[in-house]
Amino acid sequence: MVIKAPEGTRDLLPNEALFWERFKRTAADVFGRCGYVLIDTPIMEQTELFVRGIGEATDVVSKEMFTAISGENLKTLLEGGSIKAKSRLSLRPEGTAGVVRAVVQHDLVPLGAPPAKLMYAGPMFRAERPQKGRQRQFNQIGIECLGADDPAVDAEAIIMCMRFFEAVGIPRADMRLLLNSMGCEACRPAYRELVRSYMQQHAEQLCGTCMTRAEANPLRAFDCKNEACAAVMEDAPKITDHLCDDCRAHYARVKALLDGAGVGYIEDASLVRGLDYYTRTVFEVQVDNGMGSQNAIGGGGRYDKLAEEVGGRPTPGFGFALGYERCVLALQAAGMEFPEAQRCDLFVACVDDTTRTAAFELAQACRDAGFACQMDYQQRSLKSQFKLADKLHARYVAVLGPEELSCGVAKLRNMQSHEEQETLLAEVAARLA
Ligand code: HAM
Repeated sequence: MVIKAPEGTRDLLPNEALFWERFKRTAADVFGRCGYVLIDTPIMEQTELFVRGIGEATDVVSKEMFTAISGENLKTLLEGGSIKAKSRLSLRPEGTAGVVRAVVQHDLVPLGAPPAKLMYAGPMFRAERPQKGRQRQFNQIGIECLGADDPAVDAEAIIMCMRFFEAVGIPRADMRLLLNSMGCEACRPAYRELVRSYMQQHAEQLCGTCMTRAEANPLRAFDCKNEACAAVMEDAPKITDHLCDDCRAHYARVKALLDGAGVGYIEDASLVRGLDYYTRTVFEVQVDNGMGSQNAIGGGGRYDKLAEEVGGRPTPGFGFALGYERCVLALQAAGMEFPEAQRCDLFVACVDDTTRTAAFELAQACRDAGFACQMDYQQRSLKSQFKLADKLHARYVAVLGPEELSCGVAKLRNMQSHEEQETLLAEVAARLA
């Protein structure tokens, strides 16, 4: 039986692996211009971090986490025993909670310090039902800015996110930037009550899931895919009509800065996002071309209370993450192909077995001089060595036969112009340059 990759995961084969590296480099360049530096946190964290940080009632935490139990602890559990809270580990479903945990643990934002601007890239894990654009292991690139509640941080990050998508080649016309404010602890509780009582008035038109959620988090009903629920929620009270003065001013400033930068957005009062830590600004970037029903290529927002949730001092934060695989779908719809993974400056071909050692040495000398060189390891005929060189898109082929070898030269063929020149073995590397 052939063993395949687990459902909902995928291999990045060499061409795509190269593309992913370039994708990360572009992010480091675009985000680096705004002062973001790389951080790398563990793929596993204590389950408690996600429960407290993302919210116990969210789908991500209540249904989609992969929890890892080491052999010894698994045995204890199976035997009916209990394990310490710190031994309960989960694969990270997202990056924000871990980064905020690291910021608190290492005191990266001491009192009075400028904000910490951090970026990360790597795999996240969610036990969702796999479908186009939705995987169980997927790659995210994200940023988190901790230590400032200035709306300029929000606007700067949103603009930076759009610049990144454009830099990797997603046409601006294909993208829709949705924007909302979710209020704060001063104004959201009263708004949440308004929505709850509105839902109770329309209980018979709403699905069971929405009504159950109405208790813990009624705002989640804005995300329900059920058409009847969507129709009811369209007329629900809008958060932006119920923001406190501070949140309204904050939101107005974010919009003014985006307007000033010429970054168009659509205000969407039903954008609530699926993670519980958000306060004030939230945004999402959606694309239709090439996507299935999973059309968000990135999203994020402000989370001014998260550091406290995980045991730190009050530290406002803003961040976003983008889904690499969904960006690839959007890019492929725009005509992108993965780059060629292999570079080949020189292919060293042997006329017969007597020149193999010299060919091996020539290839090695050119590699040591900084060129990518390949040769044949399967005793192919000269003709099929040329075919292989073509396939590798070799810039030059050096042909080594007994006669050439006796004169200390190789026939060096430029594969584009087809010009051929006898070249001293010691001068091949210089010719490649
Ligand atoms: P999120 O919206 O859950 O936010 O995920 C961000 C992006 O990751 C999505 O827009 C999507 O492109 C991608 N994504 C999410 N789930 C999957 C999946 N199952 N398969 C493929 N791609 C997926 C967050 O994760 C927040 N941590 C963002 C954030 C950072 N907020 C503040 N800071």
